[in-house]
Amino acid sequence: MKKIYVIHGPNLNRLGNREPDIYGHLTLEQINQQLQEKATTLGWELDAFQSNHEGKLIDAIHEADTHYDAIILNPGAYTHYSYALRDAVASITVPVIEVHLSNIHARDSFRHHSVIAGVAKGQISGFGSASYELALLAFQQLFALEEIERM
Ligand code: DQA
Repeated sequence: MKKIYVIHGPNLNRLGNREPDIYGHLTLEQINQQLQEKATTLGWELDAFQSNHEGKLIDAIHEADTHYDAIILNPGAYTHYSYALRDAVASITVPVIEVHLSNIHARDSFRHHSVIAGVAKGQISGFGSASYELALLAFQQLFALEEIERM
C-alpha cells in the first residue's frame, strides 16, 4: 500500500476565506477530505500537514523521506523564494510533485518563478483543488511505470 503525504505551506489554512475568487471556496479540511477519499479508492493511505512556518515544513519534508512513498507539496509563497525549502526537497529521495491551486504563471510576475520546480518531479498549477487530485493521478502513473520497469 502506497503512503502519500500532502504538505500545505503558509496561508493555506485560510482557504475558504482567503481570496476565494483566486483560490476557490473549499476549506483546507474539505480539500484534505476529498484527497483522503480519492486515495482510499486507489487503495492508498494519505496524511496531510499544514504549517505557516518554513522550518516546520522543512522538518516535515525530512521526516517524510523514510515514512512515505510520495509527497504532494504546495509551498505557498515559499515557492518563489525559499532556497531552504528547495534544499529540503533536494535532500530526500521520495518524489515530490509541486502543486498550486492558482495558475502561478498567469499571475503577478513574482509568482512566475518557482525555486522548487527544478528539484520536484513536476509541477501542477491552475486547476483549483483538482491540482492536488491530478498530483495523485500523476503518482498513480509514475508508480505503474516503475512497476513495468521492474519487470
Ligand atoms: C499558491 C500560489 C502562491 O503564489 C501563493 O503565494 C499561495 C498559494 C497556490 O496554491 O496557488 O499561497 O501556492
